[in-house]
Amino acid sequence: VCGIIGYIGSRPAASVLIEGLRQLEYRGYDSFGIAVNGQKIGLLKRNGRIPEDFPEINSFLGTAGIGHTRWATHGIPSDRNAHPHLDCSGRIAVVHNGIIENYLSLKKELEQGGHCFQSETDSEVIPHLIEEYSGKGLLEAVRRATGRLTGSYAFLVIEEGGRGRIIAAKKSSPLVIGCGDGEMLAASDATPILDYTERVIYLEDDDIASISPDGVEVFQNGCRVERPASLIEWSREDVKRGGFPHFMEKEIFEQPEVLANSVRVLTELPDILEGVKGLTLVACGSSFHAGLIFKYLLERVAGIPVRCELASEFKYHPSPARDPVIAVTQSGETADTNSALQVARSYNCPTIAITNVLGSSVTRIADMVIFLKAGPEISVAATKSFIAQCGVLARLADLLSGGKYRTTLLKANVAISDVLRAEFEDAVDLCSGARSLFYIGRGAFYPVALEGALKMKEISYIHAEGFAAGEIKHGPFALLSEDTPVIAVCPPGETYEVMNSNIKEIKARGTPVIVLGRRSDREISRISDLFIPMPEGDIITDIMASTVILQLLAYRTAVRLGREIDRPKNLAKCVTVE
Ligand code: M6R
Repeated sequence: VCGIIGYIGSRPAASVLIEGLRQLEYRGYDSFGIAVNGQKIGLLKRNGRIPEDFPEINSFLGTAGIGHTRWATHGIPSDRNAHPHLDCSGRIAVVHNGIIENYLSLKKELEQGGHCFQSETDSEVIPHLIEEYSGKGLLEAVRRATGRLTGSYAFLVIEEGGRGRIIAAKKSSPLVIGCGDGEMLAASDATPILDYTERVIYLEDDDIASISPDGVEVFQNGCRVERPASLIEWSREDVKRGGFPHFMEKEIFEQPEVLANSVRVLTELPDILEGVKGLTLVACGSSFHAGLIFKYLLERVAGIPVRCELASEFKYHPSPARDPVIAVTQSGETADTNSALQVARSYNCPTIAITNVLGSSVTRIADMVIFLKAGPEISVAATKSFIAQCGVLARLADLLSGGKYRTTLLKANVAISDVLRAEFEDAVDLCSGARSLFYIGRGAFYPVALEGALKMKEISYIHAEGFAAGEIKHGPFALLSEDTPVIAVCPPGETYEVMNSNIKEIKARGTPVIVLGRRSDREISRISDLFIPMPEGDIITDIMASTVILQLLAYRTAVRLGREIDRPKNLAKCVTVE
């Protein structure tokens, strides 16, 4: 996953590109670079993050250029492997997001033809291929080059002395064009475009665009096509931190509103799901946990069986029944999820995408799209998008069960507001000194435990695992000790009694237990080492409240340990490789 940006207009391109790349760093941040079209192509590539203060860019003259922020796939993070990449003459510069699957054979062919490569990346074949075909002009050269590429790409090209334009090409990786007044942008998403214009064009797969300061021409197979512009729904304020020290905290605090909106997204049961006998969900990471919560919620009230599959494993299973398949993906760009949905289509299953990003790749694959409307999520850790997924899916369970969750769904946001104020510094102390953390829950609180552990390991770098509480005695018990606290999610309900026993068994091994339980529950508070109260409510409010407490526990622990909160090491916001 990488972020790309291009600018052409009347402003100094270098500073537009660097500011844009800062906003795209959530996509990858191990190196960055820009190329600006002045008298010659000016190139700057650097390993590591973009410095706060960066006076060097003032020496880059030119009002057109391209930039890249990288999440390494082929070749280590280094100056050499950073984009942009150049052709042999140094006159063509390219930034690329995606994977060129046939790069090894192309590289061999190009090297045999005399081309010299400077990096270990797959992307560098693109400028050399364009150079190879450059006799008939840049646009035609890009068209011919794309015909040779297999894999996924969104790339931008500038040519020294070129006719004042940027050429863009897209296949299976996102690319948005921003249409300003006498200036145009292209970027991996709309976030960096918002500072200049709200009018955007979402390119389609196999589109090639020629972008000048005055507009854009889009081509498919050499023929001109129309791509209508639309208005971005997010505001500039939505993508700024708004006074919070980190995007993650801001996004956690937005959740009462996000949940209230998400449960209203579906006003009626989608036609595709009318009379369904079974459902399959495919997703990764946090989105998979939201899918598991849905499975528990729906099966307990509607008797409709739900398969919830890790998207990366879906294709290895035998062909499913023709039940509808729902892809749950915040970004809409997760390669595993999107290819699982393609597999579902090949089985002729009706498909639905639940996503937060309009115009993302998944929206082009699915028969129907449900938009989460959580607003842009910048922090790598999924928080408000997860709550929005839970809200939309719980509403779906409600619609499929004839209204079993209706009243509770409408007030669940109040439970989140309640726990946002919770103080639990003693639990943060315990977690930040831990060697490992184990999270346990049963029923719908098992995926809540999985999600809590994922959040903790992702941003605090403490080893954390989630378990179905019944499983912990089948092996993980051997790891328990004083410095491996257990976090148990234990609201009242069908799982309460047995969770109560599990907690006592763990304590009997000398392991401290932090329990999330209802505020009025004296018994569970008495047996826990540390108790974090949740408001009174029901299964829906307990799911939402416990999820948010575990997000805050991870966040506060990571802050205590001085971690990089919004951009954890080795991770990226969208994972566009399988
Ligand atoms: O964009 P998606 O929802 O498809 O992303 C799936 C996972 O990569 C994502 O949920 C990941 O696990 C989060 N960073 C966890 O906080």
